[in-house]
Amino acid sequence: MGEPGQTKFQTGLRRYLREMEVDRDLTRLICEIANASKYIINSIRTGDLGVAGTSNLYGEDQLALDVLSDRIIRKRLSHSGVVANMVSEETPEIVSVSTDVEGKYSVAFDPLDGSSLVDVNLAVGTIVSIYEGGNVLQPGRNQVAAMYILYGPRTTLVYSSGDGVHEFAMNQLMEYTLVQENLQMAPKGTIYSPGGQRNLYTPGIEKFVSYMEQNGAKLRYSGGFVPDINQILVKGQGVFMYPHLQDKPMGKLRVLYELNPMAYLIEQAGGAASTGRGRILDLEPQGIDDRAPVFIGSKEDVAMAERFIAEAG
Ligand code: AHG
Ligand code: MN
Ligand code: MN
Repeated sequence: MGEPGQTKFQTGLRRYLREMEVDRDLTRLICEIANASKYIINSIRTGDLGVAGTSNLYGEDQLALDVLSDRIIRKRLSHSGVVANMVSEETPEIVSVSTDVEGKYSVAFDPLDGSSLVDVNLAVGTIVSIYEGGNVLQPGRNQVAAMYILYGPRTTLVYSSGDGVHEFAMNQLMEYTLVQENLQMAPKGTIYSPGGQRNLYTPGIEKFVSYMEQNGAKLRYSGGFVPDINQILVKGQGVFMYPHLQDKPMGKLRVLYELNPMAYLIEQAGGAASTGRGRILDLEPQGIDDRAPVFIGSKEDVAMAERFIAEAG
């Protein structure tokens, strides 16, 4: 792969997608999002830490970074020519880009997950879920691709279009080049990443956490879904959970923008993603704001969580 003298690991994203024979329009869509991320990373690095509705030093209206990131991606998708519908965590409804859905894609995305972590300088990310045609409200198993971009000490991009999970990193020229192909999850792990307040855990969740701890698992929770999942995916082992809580039976994370794309990627890498009672990717969406509890990562660890929940709730 690549030109003579060039190693495979300098392969750029677009070229890699072409060599993997990913559909031309899907390639275009993935590259549009990759391009949008250059502007998002720039805003994160240099932007004022303002909140929406306030004005900056110069009296100009200032946008919160998540709103700004949303606009950046929406604009790109609108002009891509390959998108039918789009919906994001920042918009209250599905936006129609083209009424002719034939051969086009629909996209659900979280433009800047973990945006409240920017002011404390922790890692954040963009998460994207892609379907063929015009329907974004369908089970996650129908996704044709998913990806995320992680804005950490380095900027990395991880995608799958149903043919393995591949990691790219942004170079000095702000181009994404291949780091690792075919990320794989081990069946059991030694990392656990538990969201939600422990005193609100149900007995089954409490038992699962004790089980992980007794097996020597290390706690790794940053409060950012993208870096927390990325750690598990790139280390190839471990489990992340944001469970149902005594006061939040559906947990916190959203199915369309957060859970489906990550479940798709983790399953593509040989892991599993469950609500604790069933596969995330089989959830029938009721609305764009659906939430669900999640246990995601190494297959056997996820199965253990399901077992403890079935036994104790
Ligand atoms: P968002 O910033 O899009 O609202 O979501 C943040 C999410 C996710 O990044 C993380 O896994 C989770 O919230 C953390 O929640 P806690 O602060 O309750 O741990
Ligand atoms: Mn989010
Ligand atoms: Mn968000």
